[in-house]
Formats: sequence, C-alpha cells, structure tokens
Amino acid sequence: MKTAIGITAAKREGVANGLAKILADEYVLYTKTKNAHWNIEGPDFYDKHKFFEMQFGELDVIVDSVAERIRTLGHYVDAMLKAFISVTQFTEQKSEKNDSTGYIKELLNDHETLIMSLRGSIHLFANEYDDLGSSDFITGLVETHEKMAWFLRSHLK
Ligand SMILES: [Fe+2]
Repeated sequence: MKTAIGITAAKREGVANGLAKILADEYVLYTKTKNAHWNIEGPDFYDKHKFFEMQFGELDVIVDSVAERIRTLGHYVDAMLKAFISVTQFTEQKSEKNDSTGYIKELLNDHETLIMSLRGSIHLFANEYDDLGSSDFITGLVETHEKMAWFLRSHLK
C-alpha cells in the first residue's frame, strides 16, 4: 500500500536517510551508555551504575521512536550493527579509565555533538523535505538530549 501523507516519495526518502543516520548515532550512544553501566568502577559505583541505567533506558525509547518514524514514512529500517557503525558520526568507547568522570565526559561530549547535528535536521526536514512532522519529532529529541546532557554535566562541577 502506498504511503500517501502529502510528502513526495523523493522527499520521504531524504528524511528516511537522515533518520537512518540519527538512528545509528542513537544506537551507538545507547551501547556506549550500557558499556559505562557495566564497566564503571570506583567509590561511586552503585550510584553511577544506576544513573547510566536510567540514561540507557531513555536512549532505548529514543532508538525505538526513531526506527518507527522511518517506518511511518514508508521505509524499512536497516537494523544491522555494521550499518549503524558505517554511518554513525561517533567512535566507540575511547575513555581509558573506567571511572565515572571519564565515562561522563565522553558521553556528555557525544550528547552535545548529537544535539548540534539534530538542530541541522530540524531545519533540513522542514525546509528541504516539507516534513514538519519529522522536524517536530527531532525538536522533541533535542529537548530530551539537552536534559540528559544537563544530568551528565551536573556531575562535573
Ligand atoms: Fe543492568
């Protein structure tokens, strides 16, 4: 059945390709946050173990919503780890020490990088592809990442 939602096929494809890159970033960030949850050590172990658990839970919800937005536009999700790795802007875990400051700094940097690139998608999806729904969806994602970044940043005072 055709996806008749008032956006041309070419423009829906443009948005779906943009969302595939966002999905890859979100999935890698989800995995990096799980890595922190699993491998964290130090006197604040339990506190940070639970904190990272809360954050990967939020990222899990985001991952699902981005993938389902791709399906909403009539495209399939390329849910292969090698596909995610090939398009993500992130590298896998870099921090050499498995203490909370190392993980938090790296995750904060990734959230801030993602927030900045998502801002570009808000304009791109609305202005280039006439998809105000996806633009609004990404605006919501930015707000969620801004709050997660605040939670991370507040540990570094
Ligand atoms: Fe766990």
